[in-house]
Amino acid sequence: MFNELRIPVVVAPMAGGVSTPELVAAAVNAGATGFLAAGYLSPAALAGRIEAVRELTGGAFGVNLFVPGPRTEVLLGGHAAAVAAEARRLGVQPGRPVWDDDRFADKVDLLVKDPVPAVSFTFGLPAADVLTRLREVGSHLIATVTTPAEAEAATAAGVDALCVQGAAAGGHRGTFADDTAHPGGAPLYDLLPALRLMAGLGLPLIAAGGLVHGADVAAVLAAGAVAAQLGTAFLRCPEAGTAEAHRAALAAGGRQTALTRAFSGRPARGLVNRFLVENPSAPSAYPQIHHLTRPVRAAGDPEVMSLWAGQSYALASADPVAAVLERLHSEARTAAAALQDRLK
Ligand SMILES: Cc1cc2nc3c(=O)[nH]c(=O)nc-3n(C[C@H](O)[C@H](O)[C@H](O)COP(=O)(O)O)c2cc1C
Repeated sequence: MFNELRIPVVVAPMAGGVSTPELVAAAVNAGATGFLAAGYLSPAALAGRIEAVRELTGGAFGVNLFVPGPRTEVLLGGHAAAVAAEARRLGVQPGRPVWDDDRFADKVDLLVKDPVPAVSFTFGLPAADVLTRLREVGSHLIATVTTPAEAEAATAAGVDALCVQGAAAGGHRGTFADDTAHPGGAPLYDLLPALRLMAGLGLPLIAAGGLVHGADVAAVLAAGAVAAQLGTAFLRCPEAGTAEAHRAALAAGGRQTALTRAFSGRPARGLVNRFLVENPSAPSAYPQIHHLTRPVRAAGDPEVMSLWAGQSYALASADPVAAVLERLHSEARTAAAALQDRLK
């Protein structure tokens, strides 16, 4: 599926409202591809977005699912108190810190009944029967991995491709169940060669994390990837559903990015703001903390919102998706030609 793209770029799934049907369809219509983010959506809302993409394009796109972890009971302790204090200040109630499975099984049923060309997974691997059912209806299956061990497990599970997420990536780390083992993640250019060299791993690799320039796209292709997956580069596009305060913080620049569990209970990279700085030791408790902080995040205060962004966010532009993709394509070709020239 990825080898046939005119522009070897995937517009990343971005849950939380960013991945609109317009964003995905614009990518497909420009000769790249895109993924809808099913995370946090109800199955009915997901069905509506799939339908909307089909109305806007006849090309191939994908849907990304959050794989639920085991049901856990967690003690939120001081973090619950910190969120309650923010909620009081903003005049809202904290959310209920419940565990849920994001209605994973219902979304899989939907995608089996009404198949899409590609389905990608993050936060782990689904059970074998889920992969079998989706494969039987013809979907191309992709697992997000952040370590060689995860790549090995995904390969053994029989997926068709791996999305390799490096440490610079914006948003949540796709790390499997134990997010305390490698909280920071390995750099993309450590992972790509390691995975390429791994015995038995013949799967196509899609590279993600900190890629915003066409030279980055050329570099990951040179390192053996079939395509580059970019999220942050499209956050400011008019087709994206990014919140205004998030757009403004990205445009203003000047902030570092950092990994944090403060907003959701799972490591994710975002722009540094007050809430992130004041809560450096939030426990590993996803999705409980996600639900707990939802009302405070929704209040629109940039110092208390999750401002997800990859390390290279400063280069992201506010141009439409097609223009960003054409720029990436042209920069990638220039970089490849320069490389060829230099290596003559
Ligand atoms: C706002 C935002 C939301 C994201 N949501 C998802 C998601 O729902 N599913 C997923 O697999 N990855 C998600 N990601 C991660 C991307 O798939 C990808 O790994 C990342 O954007 C690559 O790094 P970059 O942002 O530097 O391009 C998200 C990233 C961002 C910035």
